[in-house]
Amino acid sequence: MTLKKVEKQNKGLKGEVTIPADKSISHRAVMFSSLAKGTSTIENFSKGADCHSTLSVFKSLGVNAEFKDEKTLIIKSSGQLIAPKDDLYCGNSGTTMRLMSGILAGQNFDSVLTGDESLSKRPMARVIKPLELMGAKIEAKMQRCKDAKLTAPMKIHGTQLHGINYVSELSSAQVKSCVLLAGLNASGTTSFTEPYISRNHTELMLEYLGAKIDAKTQRRKDAKQNNTVENYASMHPGIFASTTTIERSQLQSKTIIIAGDISSAAFFIVAGLIVPDSEIILKNVGLNPTRTGILDVVKMMGADVEILDEKTVSNELVGDLRVKYSQLKGCTIEDEIIPRLIDELPVIAVLATQAEGTTIIKDAEDLRHKESDRIKAVVDELKKLGADIEETPDGFIIQGKKHLTGGVEVETYHDHRLAMSLYVAGLICKNPIFIKGFEWVNISFPEFEKLMNNLN
Ligand code: S3P
Repeated sequence: MTLKKVEKQNKGLKGEVTIPADKSISHRAVMFSSLAKGTSTIENFSKGADCHSTLSVFKSLGVNAEFKDEKTLIIKSSGQLIAPKDDLYCGNSGTTMRLMSGILAGQNFDSVLTGDESLSKRPMARVIKPLELMGAKIEAKMQRCKDAKLTAPMKIHGTQLHGINYVSELSSAQVKSCVLLAGLNASGTTSFTEPYISRNHTELMLEYLGAKIDAKTQRRKDAKQNNTVENYASMHPGIFASTTTIERSQLQSKTIIIAGDISSAAFFIVAGLIVPDSEIILKNVGLNPTRTGILDVVKMMGADVEILDEKTVSNELVGDLRVKYSQLKGCTIEDEIIPRLIDELPVIAVLATQAEGTTIIKDAEDLRHKESDRIKAVVDELKKLGADIEETPDGFIIQGKKHLTGGVEVETYHDHRLAMSLYVAGLICKNPIFIKGFEWVNISFPEFEKLMNNLN
């Protein structure tokens, strides 16, 4: 286990960083290219271990995948998956396991999905329930704990599925994608409705590859009445319940260029905002509106962040950001914005320790079911650094403008986003900090430290 020493950054961060590939989009590019018949090219594929877990699962399902160069992946597929000889190991990746369950449930063979220690504890009932309504046959492990839950390993007995109209209580892109992928190979029409729109990369990429898919947002009953639907949708995309409908379709093989990951950019955005005298440019950041909650939040806190230019790449918005050190004020983060920044909340908590006044984060109970219990982990570790942060059932309350003292060892709980959030906090601690298990960054962002060092 690596113990990483992080020292106070004594001068501003300066320079330019090109943000590496989006994890969510990279997973989907491998999955959908493998389902398409023919040769697909994926440019700028993620180097993160999670996306490589997805790749190895498809190799075990008979798909031919080879790197043409460091980041260009060529996928050749007959469009039909074949029965795997062994269990399909998803590593640490919830996206791999939950989306694969939707793909595998409708195949004409059986398969078993397994994961590492952390993934084997994560709840799977959220995907098993809708899949069973579609006719799927799945056996999962029943964990006999306080709140009994179904977990990996999941044995999936492939069968013909039928479409359903599923109304989810949870806004979750993994659950949505699982159901839509099952619907891609099911009889009839499948629809998925969620309370607030979650990341829509599945919808955009399936549309790009020619699937019969239709995504709509609609005004929720509690939406304000004094705006046109169009204005309101552009100002507050989240307050619209989202329904996506899909029918059985054959996907086309194409070239997919992966945008940079705004969840990786988030660590640089926060570092630039809290290290005095910083000014940085982040290039090639994915700006899909279902992911840009962090930009809305930092603006609300008074940050000097500018979008320099925007373009569409493979059906996704991409642009460059300029971030400058800023005086910030606390705010409340809740409700419809939560699915649009769920992965950024640990580093937003670090940001809030440096904002004037109180920041309240609520409606984020699902953070307890990520790679670690991110509510407890963030609170325990930031407290060790000297932050004034309190745990609530569904979030945090943070009193800001605290000088972090550091000088201690902190834990990552095998969680990549904890490792990077603590590193960013370390840049402003008075004394060096020591991060245990820092190597977990490799799950999503192996280039993290090198790129951070380029800003010195
Ligand atoms: C993801 C969806 C989110 C997110 C995860 C990636 C995806 O999970 O936290 O890191 O790629 O679909 P949930 O769907 O569980 O919210």
